Amino acid sequence: MANPPSPLLLALREGTHASHKRLEQRLPFFSEHFDLNAYRQLLAAYLGFHAPLELALADHQPTQRHKAPALRHDLRALGLSDAELAALPLCGTLPAIDDEASALGVMYVLEGSTLGGQVLKRAMAERLGIDSDSGAAFLDVYGPLTGAHWRSFLDRLAQAALGTAAEARTVQAAISTFDCFEQWLAARRVLAH
Ligand code: HEM
Repeated sequence: MANPPSPLLLALREGTHASHKRLEQRLPFFSEHFDLNAYRQLLAAYLGFHAPLELALADHQPTQRHKAPALRHDLRALGLSDAELAALPLCGTLPAIDDEASALGVMYVLEGSTLGGQVLKRAMAERLGIDSDSGAAFLDVYGPLTGAHWRSFLDRLAQAALGTAAEARTVQAAISTFDCFEQWLAARRVLAH
């Protein structure tokens, strides 16, 4: 049976609920005119956020699970050349990561997005006819391990023993991750509205 949610997980859920909802509503996956071309542009913008953020996290989380390689794989499958990939713009306004507490908040958002990815994987297979070989590897980046990886991340959160002030920094970092991502996607003009 699953463990009861840790106080830190509950605080993260409560703190990011509105941000998740807003971003989910602005993302174009379910928009009427969403097509493969729009999907490619959206994934390119995802890479522009994930690549620098994963590098920034590496100082505090050397064992993190990288997702940028799956995004590059998808973009190649969707027709981008190596030169085009290398020339994609990268987000310069990232959430601050100065300690374990803030790193955990960023990771909560990046890891949690694999849960929504399961929904999106099925929807994009139906709408765009893509799978993990043809542009949707990122949406199912952990494959059958999605649930197990999420539970192991939750165990880590539960064992972090951060203290109240540090936990507040974790929640703040998670909110900031959602905000930075949303602002970046808006600036890249890939959101529906
Ligand atoms: C249209 C896009 C999205 C949809 C439909 C979606 C949907 C979902 C769903 C259904 C869950 C709950 C899964 C479960 O409990 O098993 C979830 C959880 C989550 N999603 Fe999303 N999501 C989307 C985009 C995103 C994005 C872009 C991010 C972050 C960059 C994100 C971050 C999270 C996080 C952190 C959780 C974990 C919440 C928790 O259980 O504590 N989601 N999402």
